[in-house]
Amino acid sequence: MDATDKKRNAAKASLEFILPCTVLGVGTGSTVNHLIELLPGIRERIESVVSSSQASTELLEAQGFEVSTLNEIGDIDLYIDGADEANKHLQLIKGGGGALTREKVLAGAARRFVCIVDDSKLVGMLGGFPLPIEVIPMAQAFVARKLVKMRAQPIWREGFVTDNGNHILDVHDLAINNPLEMESRLNQIPGVLTVGLFAQRAADVLLISGDAGVREIRA
Ligand code: 5RP
Repeated sequence: MDATDKKRNAAKASLEFILPCTVLGVGTGSTVNHLIELLPGIRERIESVVSSSQASTELLEAQGFEVSTLNEIGDIDLYIDGADEANKHLQLIKGGGGALTREKVLAGAARRFVCIVDDSKLVGMLGGFPLPIEVIPMAQAFVARKLVKMRAQPIWREGFVTDNGNHILDVHDLAINNPLEMESRLNQIPGVLTVGLFAQRAADVLLISGDAGVREIRA
């Protein structure tokens, strides 16, 4: 089975978490795009929908959904999103698509966060995938110097501007032995808007799609 089929199966498995009258938060990325394609089939269960990116908003609107803002709806019942890496503690690296800030806000506002991945994303230690960090543009070089002092290799995602008008540093070679501590430490660098480490708000359920089907890890 190829990665696309696995992603589609993970998205399909997440549909059972969408109960009647759900206020749904929708993430960003190719796995979530499969979910968005499937949502019209269970439209009657969705009370309202909030999106983590302009890209997902456009896809949801193309499927006929009216997308609400988080300010309009308050808390979210269920947030479904993909990840770039996940460990068995349901801690994640996200932001490969650059939508990490709104994703973190929606995950934080959600009563339940279901993460959908193919089995290539499950790792023993986070950090093989370069950690995305959203920085305000004027602080980019300063934040990069701080990261170099931590013996990491930040690479500016050149030409990419986030939905919030900011820049992304993709941080290579960061030793993430303790994700909770690393998230706090990076959050303290002035100019950092969002760290793509989701350890303090990890997923509640991880759906991992492989050749043998979709398995589930719960917090
Ligand atoms: C976007 C994300 C995505 O969830 C992450 O990049 C996974 O993407 P994909 O489903 O395409 O593998 O964090 O900012």
